[in-house]
Amino acid sequence: MSEDKKLMLLTGGNSGIGLEACKILCERGHKIVATVRSDEKGAHCLSEVKSAVPDADIHYMICEMSDVDSVKKLAEEFKSTWLADGQLLDVLINNAGCYFDGNDRHVCSTNEEWEITFATNAIGPILLTDLLIENLKETASEKGEARIVMVNSTVTTMEEIEPYQTDFNDLMLAKPKTYKNGIRAYKNSKVALMMATLGMLDELKDTKVTLNSMCPGPIAGTNLFRSNAGDANKGNLKEPSPQCADREKQKKMIQVIRDMLK
Ligand SMILES: NC(=O)c1ccc[n+]([C@@H]2O[C@H](COP(=O)([O-])OP(=O)(O)OC[C@H]3O[C@@H](n4cnc5c(N)ncnc54)[C@H](OP(=O)(O)O)[C@@H]3O)[C@@H](O)[C@H]2O)c1
Repeated sequence: MSEDKKLMLLTGGNSGIGLEACKILCERGHKIVATVRSDEKGAHCLSEVKSAVPDADIHYMICEMSDVDSVKKLAEEFKSTWLADGQLLDVLINNAGCYFDGNDRHVCSTNEEWEITFATNAIGPILLTDLLIENLKETASEKGEARIVMVNSTVTTMEEIEPYQTDFNDLMLAKPKTYKNGIRAYKNSKVALMMATLGMLDELKDTKVTLNSMCPGPIAGTNLFRSNAGDANKGNLKEPSPQCADREKQKKMIQVIRDMLK
């Protein structure tokens, strides 16, 4: 991308990779709006970024990514606060993500049918992207470029390992499972996000919006594995499964997620 000052919306800006990204992007002179889950975390984000980059153009907004209403509110308020004066959204970074260790199935307080890891890591980012896609297209048509970044994980390559395989008929883990649900839920959510991201490619092919799915690599010292001793890092990583590479299945995945949101 060109090096002029960009407006970027980044989810999960108060800790780990998101917080470090805020510092680096502010250091490069960009305006960053970071999402957090409370005013306290917002204050922490601002103070950490400003102590690293005193003239940082950093702001925060509150959003719970597993809650559809909260994501919709974020998108509306983002547009009315930051895009009302004709400013354009250059980059959307879907970074927020969670992982829960153990065998328990965790569900959303707002929708008890939804497993919370899936809601946070897959449904939330897809919904936010859909809600902002017209703004990104407008930016791309006016400035020649706009970008979406999905922070994913090489955990998706565990699809080939039998106990971790995704049951596409049970993405919410509603059926009893016999092997660790925490890592299964995390992998399911990232496989769904990866497939849905790829499923959106055709929709963007005639635009100058680039869609990027990346893994930051194993980053120690973030809060991601706060609930465990790191078993998500175990496993014999292999190539992505052929079923995740199937274009028709990718398009189906984005549709499955959009249908859940109806
Ligand atoms: N660290 C690694 O080794 C690694 C490897 C591969 C991929 N990743 C991915 O990198 C991204 C960032 O992870 P990280 O390692 O930096 O972890 P982190 O330190 O735990 O940061 C995660 C961020 O997401 C936010 N978040 C979590 N659940 C949320 C929810 N339901 N609604 C809104 N915000 C939520 C957190 O906010 P709170 O502080 O409020 O929880 C925090 O700001 C994630 O998508 C993760 O899957 C990380």
